[in-house]
Amino acid sequence: MRGLVLSGGKGTRLYPLTYTRAKQLIPVANKPVLVRVIETIRDAGVAEIGVVIGQTGAEIREALGDGSRWGVAITYIPQEQPLGLAHAVKIARDFLQDEPFVMFLGDNVIQGGISGLIRDFTNHAWNSQIVLKAVDNPSSFGVAKLRPDGTIEQLIEKPKEPPSNLALVGIYMFDRHIFEAVNAITPSWRGELEITDAIQWLIEHGYVVSPHVHTGWWIDTGKPTDMLEANSYVLDEITPYIDPSAVIENSEVDRRVTVEAGARIFNSTIHGPTIIGEGTLIENSYIGPYTSIYHHVTIKSCEIDRSIVLENSAIESPNARLYGCLIGRNVTVQPRQARPRTLTMNLGDYSNLWMV
Ligand code: DAU
Repeated sequence: MRGLVLSGGKGTRLYPLTYTRAKQLIPVANKPVLVRVIETIRDAGVAEIGVVIGQTGAEIREALGDGSRWGVAITYIPQEQPLGLAHAVKIARDFLQDEPFVMFLGDNVIQGGISGLIRDFTNHAWNSQIVLKAVDNPSSFGVAKLRPDGTIEQLIEKPKEPPSNLALVGIYMFDRHIFEAVNAITPSWRGELEITDAIQWLIEHGYVVSPHVHTGWWIDTGKPTDMLEANSYVLDEITPYIDPSAVIENSEVDRRVTVEAGARIFNSTIHGPTIIGEGTLIENSYIGPYTSIYHHVTIKSCEIDRSIVLENSAIESPNARLYGCLIGRNVTVQPRQARPRTLTMNLGDYSNLWMV
């Protein structure tokens, strides 16, 4: 069994963060989503992983290297244009050879890992296994219509009128017959070779595609609100620890808080589940539940809840409480000392600011 991780594409829905960074590298609970994907595949016993990369390939190569840090061997598969998930399978043919494989979208986070799924797939004579999840907004995903006996009748990509609420999760298992399918289909209305169409082709040509309905949580981290939601789920599950090199003085830090190496916390209150990153300084502040503060951040005179702050940012906000924020790298938020007491902004393209 091999692994195929898709980490190309543009990530336009996560602008402005993804102007300057691959969306799969944005951290959730201080670990890039893509690293979580690699670990999930590794934990299911798959050690040879192909990673499809696009425009942001250099950054992804730098983050993952040869994979040895996670005990896997990574082969990079450059995709010149994001021409679709089925196109990514097509260009991975040399790497995948004729072995069965698990394909995992590099922006998906799922509860409970995939060991059970891989076991099921290897123990049955299925040609493919797909994962479905009941959602409130099926039109944002590929959607499956099942027959009364539980087999798949139809799969449609982002339908305006969804035939069910069962979304396709970005985790798929295939045997070599998928190559017949990806070579047979044509691009969709959005110009992409859709994996949904390739799976539909398998069904129509008599191959066995088994659906598994996932009952735990699953997030496709496409939008900022999804990142915050994934962050909350993961923070709920991690085992908290305080690194011995962290300094905590005159502060209340509860049992659900993780404090990474070299972090310093002074005169502050921190309520978990929360993670404070390496070398970060928190002073005279309140950090509320479901917040991830990444590495080398400075937070002073601030109250912040349910948010993600990325590396090297500095936040000082004595007059306004921050909630539901996704703050990028090297950002400064500070009070304006001079008169007039205006809000002064220097926001990138596609930024959002919500004011009281
Ligand atoms: O997350 C689940 C959904 O993923 C499924 O329900 C849909 O059926 C499936 O089409 C896909 O939809 P998205 O619109 O979310 O796909 P997105 O364009 O975000 O791409 C998913 C990942 O694959 C992302 O990490 C980028 C990567 N990718 C995407 C394309 C189109 C590539 O590596 N190459 C590509 O050509």
